[in-house]
Amino acid sequence: MDEAFWLKRWQDSAIPFHKAEPNHYLRKYFGRLGLAAGDEVLVPLCGKSVDMRWLARRGCCVTGVELSEIAARDFFEEQGIQAAERREGAFLVLEGGGVTLLCGDFFSLSSARTARVAAAYDRAALIALPAEMRMRYAEHLLSLLAADTPILLLTFEYPAHDIDGPPFSVGEAEVRRLFAGRRRVTRMESLDRLANETNLAERGVTRLEEHAFLLSGS
Ligand SMILES: C[S@@+](CC[C@H](N)C(=O)[O-])C[C@H]1O[C@@H](n2cnc3c(N)ncnc32)[C@H](O)[C@@H]1O
Repeated sequence: MDEAFWLKRWQDSAIPFHKAEPNHYLRKYFGRLGLAAGDEVLVPLCGKSVDMRWLARRGCCVTGVELSEIAARDFFEEQGIQAAERREGAFLVLEGGGVTLLCGDFFSLSSARTARVAAAYDRAALIALPAEMRMRYAEHLLSLLAADTPILLLTFEYPAHDIDGPPFSVGEAEVRRLFAGRRRVTRMESLDRLANETNLAERGVTRLEEHAFLLSGS
């Protein structure tokens, strides 16, 4: 899944992963991140997720990272937020309403930019990437965070041969492997979500679980 793939998805509005409502696991497990008002939350590969608005309304300073400028501009327009715009190194930055969107490649983000991040939230980011990129993603994410910074990670798991991703199937064993020795991995909950993800059912997914993992300082 290269840059061109995702930019075209946004150009074509082929974005079934985008949801109108804040994620149920985020609402349920937000409290487990132990955040105080004003704490910064990193949202990698954020799209135009309404979860960012939800986090900002709970008093978080949200930093999202997203390749597509269309997604970033749509976010502010759809949320009715006037965004200020500036350049910051390789990133175009749009900012307003407690949300800062860094438009550019997540893999170009440096730890200097994330020094104050108190938690990370990954929904449909790790699972957007093919196997060979998931290790690189986990390594980069960990390199951006202090050793005790918690991560709320949501993944889908389905019979691997049902469809070609994205989204890719990522189960507990892989999450444990990716974060081994760096985070304590707790699977908080798993739910059957096939009825909620009709586009995946239509593509041929026969069983679908959504997992919520809390990755905490080990
Ligand atoms: C499956 S979508 C999920 C979006 C969002 N997390 C959500 O829950 O709606 C994955 C997103 O990652 C973005 N993306 C893919 N590779 C990226 C990269 N290297 N840097 C930043 N964003 C990236 C894509 O443009 C796309 O919006």
